[in-house]
Amino acid sequence: MTIMSKEPMTSPAATEAEPDSNRYPRHVAIIMDGNGRWAKERGLPRSAGHRQGTENLRRTLRSAVELGVEILTIYAFSTENWSRPRREVALLMRILEMVIDRELKELNENGVQIRHIGELDGIPERLQKKVIYACEKTKDNTKLILNVAFNYGGRDEIVHAVQNLMCDGVKADDVTEELISSYLYTSGLPDPDLIIRTSGEYRLSNFLIWQGSYSEYYYTDVYWPDFGKEHLQAALEEYANRRRRFGKTDEQIDENFEDASA
Ligand code: FPP
Repeated sequence: MTIMSKEPMTSPAATEAEPDSNRYPRHVAIIMDGNGRWAKERGLPRSAGHRQGTENLRRTLRSAVELGVEILTIYAFSTENWSRPRREVALLMRILEMVIDRELKELNENGVQIRHIGELDGIPERLQKKVIYACEKTKDNTKLILNVAFNYGGRDEIVHAVQNLMCDGVKADDVTEELISSYLYTSGLPDPDLIIRTSGEYRLSNFLIWQGSYSEYYYTDVYWPDFGKEHLQAALEEYANRRRRFGKTDEQIDENFEDASA
């Protein structure tokens, strides 16, 4: 896998009319949906869809780096996915293990820092060890941070954050948004700028519910296995053309641009 250098971020002078790669998002999160339907439309078992989805993940990592993405967060297995048929759950566990076994060396050589977000408890012990090993092995890499949401649920994450806050004896008056953020799995990382969901579904499905409160959302009908670099780029371009107001007015945003460029 060849990973190319990234463009610097943010250009206040960029206009809405022309998509500008300097305005591309730093942190992109993806709900990789549609593997099952991709397979069904081809008369294949769901497992074929997940395998093709895994292949596409490899391609997407490369595309993300080429497009200047610094952090990629992928929703690979949710806390709700345990209710799928046992064989499918086992397959998704095996896929993660296989990805670590087969791809870790190359990912490491290409500067990918792997992080896990979610609960390790509950997944097979052998897989837990491999996940911990992969994160430890790649922790100093800086080309791309890959957050793998596996056994992840947004509500579950907040419950754990609150439990840990209480265990640490934090007083009610000292609880702030920043403090809660620092207790989440994504502690220390910026919130996602853009959350993409493939396959024509318009839901967040318990993904990054705290961190995504001011993210831009992008939905596409394309099934995950078919979501190629051109689709990713289209999403980034749409993002680059949006105005993020964070509750402010257009006029205030314009003033900030003027101040910043003065
Ligand atoms: C949703 O499609 C996809 C998943 C629940 C799993 C996503 C997994 C991959 C893309 C493979 C990479 C995985 C790892 C562990 C690195 P779906 O099965 O819900 O599709 P459907 O809605 O069409 O049935």
